[in-house]
Amino acid sequence: MKIGVFCSGGDAPGMNACARAVVRRAIGEGHQVVGILRGYQGLLDEDFFVNVNGEPLMLLRSVSGWSRFGGAFLRSSRSDEFRTEAGQAKATDILRKHEIDALIPIGGDGTFNGAVALAKHWDGQLVGCPGTIDNDLIGTDFTIGFSTAVQTAVGAVDKIRDTAESHERMFLVEVMGRHSGFIAVHTAIGAGAECVCIPETPTDIPAIVVSIRALKERGKTSIMMIVAEGDEEGGAEELNEQIKAAGNPFNTRVVVLGHLQRGGSPSPEDRILASSCGDFAVQAILEGKTGVMSGLIGGKSTLTPFEETYAKHKPIPEELLQLVEHLAS
Ligand code: F6P
Repeated sequence: MKIGVFCSGGDAPGMNACARAVVRRAIGEGHQVVGILRGYQGLLDEDFFVNVNGEPLMLLRSVSGWSRFGGAFLRSSRSDEFRTEAGQAKATDILRKHEIDALIPIGGDGTFNGAVALAKHWDGQLVGCPGTIDNDLIGTDFTIGFSTAVQTAVGAVDKIRDTAESHERMFLVEVMGRHSGFIAVHTAIGAGAECVCIPETPTDIPAIVVSIRALKERGKTSIMMIVAEGDEEGGAEELNEQIKAAGNPFNTRVVVLGHLQRGGSPSPEDRILASSCGDFAVQAILEGKTGVMSGLIGGKSTLTPFEETYAKHKPIPEELLQLVEHLAS
């Protein structure tokens, strides 16, 4: 059979390792792989990976060494055209024209939403892989790219702590996660931050200032506050203004880590997760499955219907939230 693979939405470290696993397993089993460039938009534009022989097919050697690189060699995009019924119908015609039997989209909730929409038009198989730094998908303990993003954020906060201590300052460090506080909570624990603000829990400004004052009275000379970009009280800049107005005793600075968190060589955890999800996605297709995401739960490869991966908010374990408080007290 002919299997298409592509990356979509925000890129995530490990997407290349995932595409490599898809190529290696599918070709190893005697099938063909079409690399679709630039996600759903690339499909609409018939923009395919071309191998050394000039054919629109991936070869075993096309993905040599891909595991260790961040970014997405297949490129990625967020396509407005594909969100329309007309775009999905056009994509269906293109998939039929190129005789593609199955697709493996690597991406997050928007990508799987797109896969569900496509399935209403196209009768090929669709098995996704969880590629997003946000770790906001149900059906996998962790998403591809999350571990690397946290590693990058913790490294950055460690450096910021050095200057914070020298100047006896407080820093508000904003991390990514549009609707989810996973990166923020893991970064806070990993970097020993005193405070974390996330969309999943109410951000109580007066209470935060009371606890910062208590920490200062106990002799703390620097404070790290990790803010998820999606916190309901706003990002780090807005929170800084609010805590200042509520009597924050520290001199503050704000750092927004932004897209820095999406780059870099994937961590071993991300490479292993990505390889395993990609390999299992091919296996699922060969077993006739469709409409599901290939994830890893408790070390076991698992399939979860696309709709279930994004319908509910993935909860942050209560123990992690308590851990932040225990460690800061
Ligand atoms: O979904 C991944 C993510 O990195 C989010 O954490 C972030 O809010 C968003 O993508 C940023 O998207 P863009 O790169 O399109 O600005």
